Amino acid sequence: MRTHQLRRDFASDNCAAAHPKVLAALAEVDGGHLPSYGADPYTSLLEERVRELFGQQARTFPVFNGTGANILALQAVTPRWSAVVCADAAHLHTDECGAPEHAGFKLLTLPTTDGRLDATDLADIARDARNRHRAQPGVLSLTQSTELGTSYDPIEVAVLADEAHRLGWKVHVDGARLANAAARLGIGLAEAAAGADVISLGATKNGGMIGEAVIVLDPDADGVGFLQKASTQLPSKTRYVSAQLLALLDGDLWRSNAIQANAMADRLAAGLRGVPGVRVVHPVEANAVFASLPAGVAEQLRATYSFSDWGPGVVRLMTAWDTRPEDVDGLLAAVRTLSPGGVHDSTAPAVQEASSPESAGFLA
Ligand SMILES: Cc1ncc(COP(=O)(O)O)c(C=O)c1O
Repeated sequence: MRTHQLRRDFASDNCAAAHPKVLAALAEVDGGHLPSYGADPYTSLLEERVRELFGQQARTFPVFNGTGANILALQAVTPRWSAVVCADAAHLHTDECGAPEHAGFKLLTLPTTDGRLDATDLADIARDARNRHRAQPGVLSLTQSTELGTSYDPIEVAVLADEAHRLGWKVHVDGARLANAAARLGIGLAEAAAGADVISLGATKNGGMIGEAVIVLDPDADGVGFLQKASTQLPSKTRYVSAQLLALLDGDLWRSNAIQANAMADRLAAGLRGVPGVRVVHPVEANAVFASLPAGVAEQLRATYSFSDWGPGVVRLMTAWDTRPEDVDGLLAAVRTLSPGGVHDSTAPAVQEASSPESAGFLA
């Protein structure tokens, strides 16, 4: 057996496998010839399902990845001279290799509290609007759940969306982890993004293999199908992307996957809070735990586990739909063992001398 099949890491939910039901759905749509570029019956089914969930005006565009979803979503609702208002922690700003800028967007960033934007900050950025020398804010992009592992509650989302609309902007929700927020809040996917004009709906991090969808709710958004092709996000064999999304929506698999990931983050945070010298630095409201570890611990822990550095002295530990309690407990035992004054736990996995090939080079 390939050993990576036993491995669970904390680098990113992107590192998790695809859910067996997603793989089964892929097998089910496989075989035979079907119309391409979204004209297949499975994409029609997905479109119908999305309309049931998000409202009859919803239009669905299955795409390859989250960065592409964000770019297509922003292009769909903004004129060419628009600027995008987003959090300074937004993936859009920090982790997309300037893709929004390549697409011609100026990003206007705002500071956040634990990753969440504050609606009272928006008016200030709009103050100089209509001045031809300034980039014109045209869309607010918020991330649900946020890059710092928090979730906006429905009232916070509504207040932000109302304020953005009052200022004449559209609202984009980067929902790469919308499922985690909705599961945490005990609400539906649509409610977790209420007020949005366009949503990047994540699947990959929620148990999908490859693919996301752009959900356009703005009836005025025009030419989105053309933009999808022009932005290289139109899969020819769309049925395979649609099948994954259908599988996640079927029987609310998205919710059970997210509940598991979130519960494992809670377990991890609770355990870390009990280790002397460890501090959980943001509220844990989705499937990521940000923690500051005692000096030297992260370096030693890295010999066995993968995770991301997130600013000075802070690491990000991320759980996924397939993280098991014993995976979390193993990591906790290792942190306890390595922490000064920590309890040396004989059940802790031995810290290996060298990192295994699987632990190298993960991107979050
Ligand atoms: C919040 C958020 N948005 C968008 C993306 C982009 O997804 P992809 O890597 O599929 O382009 C990520 C990826 O980690 C993400 O965390």
